[in-house]
Order: sequence, then structure tokens, then C-alpha cells
Amino acid sequence: MSRIAYVNGRYVPLREAEVSIQDRGFQFGDGVYEVCEIRDRQIIDEDRHLARLARSLGALRIVWPVEEAALRRILREVVALNRVRDGLIYLQITRGVARRDFAFPAEAPKASLVVTAKGTNPAINAAHAAAGVKVITVAETRWAHPHIKSLQLLPSVLAKQAAREAGAFEAWFVDADGFVTEGASSNAWIVTADGAIVTRHADETILRGVTRTTLLDAVRGQGLCFEERPFTPSEAYGAKEAFNSSATTIAMPVVEIDGRPIGDGAPGPLVKALRAAFHTLAQRS
Ligand code: PDD
Repeated sequence: MSRIAYVNGRYVPLREAEVSIQDRGFQFGDGVYEVCEIRDRQIIDEDRHLARLARSLGALRIVWPVEEAALRRILREVVALNRVRDGLIYLQITRGVARRDFAFPAEAPKASLVVTAKGTNPAINAAHAAAGVKVITVAETRWAHPHIKSLQLLPSVLAKQAAREAGAFEAWFVDADGFVTEGASSNAWIVTADGAIVTRHADETILRGVTRTTLLDAVRGQGLCFEERPFTPSEAYGAKEAFNSSATTIAMPVVEIDGRPIGDGAPGPLVKALRAAFHTLAQRS
């Protein structure tokens, strides 16, 4: 069965799906995106993803290409047309097509909307989680607004490539003050020696991960001790546990950072418990 994409009002086979070379997403990375997990044919935490999408669009003054209710219907249709049971749905919205000029076009073009979905094998994710993954740290080279989920992802592309070349799964950015901001495509967490769960506070320096927010609900629900504050790579090296969170990985145990084993070098009990709790708390729609 060929995959189907939604592109600006049409459902088309993926290989025929096209946007203009004058699209500002292509010319400038002038757009935003979202990635949601699909589980048992349902979209996970859709409301939180759409709320963040609204914030990203608002920050860049891009007008919604369709109303939110219509977007929800399109997401569902793409999941159904692609017969995805477990997988991911991607949506990209750009400022639209216009003659190339850095500043916004005088008359706002209609924003472009692309939605695609793909099936994934949950067993692969589960196997990664059972073994735990490796992380490297890299210098923070992104712009000043990582809280906007923008399509400009080159620093993350380069960081992920560096991770891959080092045999690691993820790269954690470290800012000029020596603190971890977040992963190239995930939020970063540690568990301190005295059992406190630590993740950086969600200001402009990181993306407020939807998975992060739902995991924090789990942390609060289980009465666990947590702190929203920055931490350094050396604090992470000495942590009892470490993990990443994202819609693609949920809570993913980290067992090695920069070649140093974390804790006893195996996924820890807290991350396992949070991973297990996630889908009982997350919204399904
Ligand atoms: N990335 N931080 C960054 C920089 C991210 O790119 C992501 C997600 C997250 C986690 O956000 P959430 O929990 O809402 O997925 C944090 C997606 C999965 C991606 O770009 O593929």
C-alpha cells in the first residue's frame, strides 16, 4: 500500500506529494512542525501538541492554514488512510509561497500545510529502552528561541550526525555556561544520587516537550521528588539514572554519556516506572 500525504488541501500518494520551490519553508526554514505518537490508531496528547503548535505559529506570526477543528480531522484522515496502528504523525506548516525576500511578504500568503504518517515497530523502541542508549554532549549551537518548534533544524541535524558517528543515539546540547539544555530531538533528564528527578526548566532555551509535560504529571502523581533546573554534564556523569523524553521515544533510558556509564550502566527503576506510567496518563484521541 502506498503512503498518502496531505498537502495543501489534497490527499496524494507520498511520491507525488510536492510543495513549491518558492515555499518559504524550503527557502528559509520559515515554518514550524509537530510530531505526535500514534498508538492503537489514536493520537497521543493531541491537545498539548496543538497548543504548542499554536504557540509556535503565534511566535512567528504565521496564520493557521486551516481551522484547528479541520486540522484535527486531517490528522485523523491521514492516520486512517495510511492504516497506521502504531507510529508517528508529522505536520509541517510554513509561511507559504512567495517571491524570495527575507522579510514577511507584504500580503501574507496562505500558509502551507503538510501532514504525513508512518508506522513504526514498537518492538524496536522497546528493545532500545530495555538496553538503554548512549548519549554524547555537543556545544549548543542553536538560535536563541528553541522553545519555538521551528523547521530550522541544522544544528540538530549536525548534532545527531555527530552522535551517530560516535555510536550514540542522541546528543545533548551544552550551553555557554556549561549546562545541558536538551537533546537534539528530546528533553534531557537525570536522577540525582538522592533520588531527585531533574530536568531543565522550560524557558526559551528549550522546547517544552509534550512528553516532558506528561511525564511531569506522572512524577507529581507518584509523589516523586523533582527539580526543574539546569544541570551540567559532570552532574549527569555522576547521576543514578539519566533519560531522554520525546514523542518518538517516550522515556528512553540513557546508560552512557560521553563514554561514562550512568549508575550501574543499565536502565534505572525510576525511568522504567515513568515509561510504564506514561500511556496511562497521556491523552488519547
Ligand atoms: N522532537 N526537544 C527538542 C529539541 C525536540 O526536537 C523534541 C521533539 C523534544 C521533545 O518534545 P516532545 O516530547 O513534544 O516530542 C524536545 C521531535 C520528536 C522530532 O523533531 O522528531
